[in-house]
Amino acid sequence: MMSSNGKIFLLDYKNLDGFQANIIDGKQQYLAAPLVLLKSTRDDKLMPIAIQLKQKSSTDNPIFLPTDSKYDWLLAKIYVRSADFTEHQLNAHLLRTHLLAEVFAVSLLRNVPMVHPLYKLLIPHTRYTLQINNLARGFLISKEPKGFFNDYVSSGGQALWLVLKKSLDSLTYSSLCPPDDIKERRVDSVPGYYYRDDALQLWPIIHRYVDGILRYYYKTDADVERDNELQEWIKDIFEHGFDSKASTGMLWDVLKKQ
Ligand SMILES: [Fe+2]
Repeated sequence: MMSSNGKIFLLDYKNLDGFQANIIDGKQQYLAAPLVLLKSTRDDKLMPIAIQLKQKSSTDNPIFLPTDSKYDWLLAKIYVRSADFTEHQLNAHLLRTHLLAEVFAVSLLRNVPMVHPLYKLLIPHTRYTLQINNLARGFLISKEPKGFFNDYVSSGGQALWLVLKKSLDSLTYSSLCPPDDIKERRVDSVPGYYYRDDALQLWPIIHRYVDGILRYYYKTDADVERDNELQEWIKDIFEHGFDSKASTGMLWDVLKKQ
């Protein structure tokens, strides 16, 4: 989402372009797809220096600056915050953690027996996944009244499902791996990005642990291919989590073609 050029960063919410915002209690809401220029300061903070709320430049789409009137600039920043809420909660949080974790969890329960090393490795991490997602379906994204997004959020209503669909369309395997994700989003040098700093330290630790267990049971690639339960597990994930699309870079498709 960010591209860096020296010490200026471009934050682009293009994922949110073209959606009809929610109507709450008969009142039309607004949903922006902003472009934001941010500058890193000498004390390593990130400051917004220009905001455009819609993607295409036009006469009714001004570029807001910190030198504009106090409330124009404040309002522009509030629109960015609102867009960030939608992008974070629907794409990064709901889709890429909760819903995708459910695909992995259900596939594990469907395809892999309890004695299997893969089951033993993964099952502790699926604890509460189904329970909390069930609550989310009932109270957070429910189409009925009393669904939080429907009742209170500009990206509720129809937009919610379309944002989720568009986010799923752009989901790739590599974007779930922090070292690749950080490179692809070009956020290596953004100051004060603690998610990146923590994730890049944890990743090799988790990788070493998982690698150690799997290499104990699978000595060769052929061992992986011959394991029908593992193959059914990843096939289910490929179909239901990645829409059976080879362009996502999911491995099952690579193995299938060999
Ligand atoms: Fe959560």
